[in-house]
Amino acid sequence: MKAAVLHTLGEAPRFEDFPEPMPEKGEVIVHVKASSLNNLSKMRAGGSHYDSYQSLPAVCGVDGVGLLDDGARVYCGGCRPPYGMMAQRAVVSRSWCLSIPDGVDVITAAALPNAALSSWLPLAFRAQLKPDETVLILGATGVAGKLAVQIARHLGAGRVVAAGRNRQVLHTLDDLGADMVISLDQSDQELVETFAREARHHPFDIILDYLWGRPAEALVRALIGHDAMAEASRVRFVSIAEMAGSTISVPSAVLRSSGLEMYGSGGGSISHQALFDTFPQLWALAASGKLRIDTEPVSLADVEDVMSRVFSQHVGMSFSRILVLHELMHAGEISQTELQQRLGMEGALLTRFAKQMEAAGLITRRVDPKDNRFTLVALAPAGQQALQEMENLGEDFETRLLEGLSKQEQARMVRAMKHIQDNLSRWQETDG
Ligand SMILES: NC(=O)c1ccc[n+]([C@@H]2O[C@H](COP(=O)([O-])OP(=O)(O)OC[C@H]3O[C@@H](n4cnc5c(N)ncnc54)[C@H](OP(=O)(O)O)[C@@H]3O)[C@@H](O)[C@H]2O)c1
Repeated sequence: MKAAVLHTLGEAPRFEDFPEPMPEKGEVIVHVKASSLNNLSKMRAGGSHYDSYQSLPAVCGVDGVGLLDDGARVYCGGCRPPYGMMAQRAVVSRSWCLSIPDGVDVITAAALPNAALSSWLPLAFRAQLKPDETVLILGATGVAGKLAVQIARHLGAGRVVAAGRNRQVLHTLDDLGADMVISLDQSDQELVETFAREARHHPFDIILDYLWGRPAEALVRALIGHDAMAEASRVRFVSIAEMAGSTISVPSAVLRSSGLEMYGSGGGSISHQALFDTFPQLWALAASGKLRIDTEPVSLADVEDVMSRVFSQHVGMSFSRILVLHELMHAGEISQTELQQRLGMEGALLTRFAKQMEAAGLITRRVDPKDNRFTLVALAPAGQQALQEMENLGEDFETRLLEGLSKQEQARMVRAMKHIQDNLSRWQETDG
């Protein structure tokens, strides 16, 4: 059968032949109709998720929709490794096949569950939303965040506050049910003040956080209380994802001075029964046309191009690709053979990278008009932009790293590090 086969974490899967799955006891074959290229599938293929592949090659695709041999239309996930849903056929446990009502089309049924349940489950089970409570969604401009706004409203939130980085999308969220939006595009101090002001007027009962990192840190700092005699009200903070960073620091004072309670929600922390109980409600809402999700269907045969584009849009681009871009920035247009020599990279590997990077629009490739045995490669405008973005991120990182250190302190630190470096060199010389 044909499948999206992953050979290396961080590289795009290839559309190629893969052995047919054979069902074992309790399993069924699913003839796949659609699988969602959601962030979970991307992160697992990229190797950055806690549930990444243990052995390769493997078929990509965490969940999707297909037909059973008896014609039943089902949503399913959790394929037995090395199988996955981005294939013509997949093998799953029968108990993980959930039937889909007629009113929900195949594409929506494949796209919706992962993103929608990311907010539905924490609201209903972890945080146990009560009618009219205030819900803040941190990172509300993405696919899952936009659904979170709609689902919080559907489940009875009294006030929904949507915070996000993308101002354009942020201002469309009132259409989906947000009462108030907060832009994250502010200095750290301004952001803390904005969250604190909002919390004073309308205390947050539940926070659904897709970002973690700097925005979550600002939000947590905004919750520090300043009255030891105050009676705190509960603030249930649920971490769902870490789009802005994988760690934060939490001042002890915030836990001592407020009603902050911190939870997480994701695969591995949710009861299976909660999932099975929620699906019929999700399908009913989807069938009623009340949930909006944007989808873009692509063919399985195009998986390599699409995933290459996805990987290259993130700075999580592999180190080898960054090297290629960097070398081409300095070299201009050169032959692929010369590039291979400069990078000391294996020929077939570079050809594969180069083809993927060309498909992603990062570089251009053409036959050398003077000698058609050679291929000329050069940086494309999108490649230049990707390098620029990486440089900006590097600068942001440096700024954050040095935040709060005066120029004198930075100079002292550089002198101390230089001193350590000199000591190390002397040490190596003596040893050597
Ligand atoms: N735990 C769970 O059960 C569960 C389930 C489903 C999904 N998820 C996770 O939820 C996350 C979001 O999924 P999605 O499908 O909504 O992804 P998405 O459509 O790609 O959206 C990502 C969101 O994160 C924002 N973002 C990214 N980097 C940021 C930064 N540095 N600062 C501020 N905002 C930033 C984006 O803002 P812009 O709009 O400005 O780009 C966008 O709003 C993913 O990590 C996914 O794996 C978790």
